Amino acid sequence: MITLKINGKEHEVDVDPTMPLLWVIRDIIGYTGTKFGCGKGLCGACMVLMDGNAVNSCQMPVSAMEGKEIITIEGKTENLQALQKSWAEFNVPQCGFCQSGQLITATSMLNNNPNPSEAEINGNMSRNICRCGTYTRIKGAIKHCVE
Ligand code: FES
Repeated sequence: MITLKINGKEHEVDVDPTMPLLWVIRDIIGYTGTKFGCGKGLCGACMVLMDGNAVNSCQMPVSAMEGKEIITIEGKTENLQALQKSWAEFNVPQCGFCQSGQLITATSMLNNNPNPSEAEINGNMSRNICRCGTYTRIKGAIKHCVE
């Protein structure tokens, strides 16, 4: 058994310890807001917060997550909720598939740096790909949130 703390709740899961966290979150626990994009650590769709920092859950074996505080897009933290509000105001998503990962990366950035520069926003958000090209609105929503 592996014990995971996700969105403030403990979950005991009986799975292969090498299973990626992404599949445990989605298929075993049922938080489906975290998305599968590439499965190779390249697109950022699967981002979750681990102790406040964004990680690619498709690349993290579930056994490495014991004792960590995991937050998904369904979780509630001050920065995540403020960004979600700003996202809605700026009407950011188009198809929406990548947006939970985008929001998690933005949350991680604000957790570590509450007032990022334009260059820092660009650098941090380069971890996430959006096929609809919503980058301008994403940056606008982040800037609005930190103003
Ligand atoms: Fe994990 Fe693309 S699905 S980085």
